[in-house]
Amino acid sequence: MIVTVDGPVAAGKGTLARRLAEDLGFAHLDTGMIYRAVGLKVLRAGGDPADEAASLTAAKALQPQDLAMEGLRDEATGFAASAVGGIPSVRAALLDYQRNFAAHPPGAGKGAVLDGRDAGTVVCPDAPAKLFVTARAEVRAHRRWLELSRRGERISEAEVLADLRERDRKDTERTVAPLKPAADAHLLDTSDLDIDAAFRAARAFVAGRLGL
Ligand code: DC
Repeated sequence: MIVTVDGPVAAGKGTLARRLAEDLGFAHLDTGMIYRAVGLKVLRAGGDPADEAASLTAAKALQPQDLAMEGLRDEATGFAASAVGGIPSVRAALLDYQRNFAAHPPGAGKGAVLDGRDAGTVVCPDAPAKLFVTARAEVRAHRRWLELSRRGERISEAEVLADLRERDRKDTERTVAPLKPAADAHLLDTSDLDIDAAFRAARAFVAGRLGL
């Protein structure tokens, strides 16, 4: 049983995916962490994440423990991840890891929840329950700014909004696996919902689709 949760940056998909996985007893994979880990490894090696050779080498050498590196959630890492994610060969190299997780969820999981940009369109197109989570850009920027401020990053809300629009543009306009809802995805706009209300809506949809 596979649940996919896709959407733009800071729409709330990570939190929703984690809570759904906990609630259902499924394993959870935040696929953004894979792209972030590759981007961060390239940055740390002094390379350019937009450089295909450098990113492909890092993608092929990716180890599960890389998904626990410090600095994965930093704003600069997010940009590196977005650059890495625009390279078709790198995306292809990272597909197996994601599909393998979905097919054989680690632990005693009866299923898997994958969140990202293309979990429902490319990674698991046959998943029975697909969510596309979104929210207005200003709302997402505010949430993201709160999260960054809490972690001590000094950045203005206006800068976060500008970064977010730029990342949305890159993620949406790229030719390979662009950010878009799967045709059979359920759209969930969390702009005016708190996390509990968003979770209830997501849970009801997923339970219906999985026959739980
Ligand atoms: O979800 P996130 O903010 O952690 O993702 C960071 C970047 O990684 C995002 O801007 C684009 C890229 N990404 C991707 O290309 N495909 C995914 N499935 C997940 C993330």
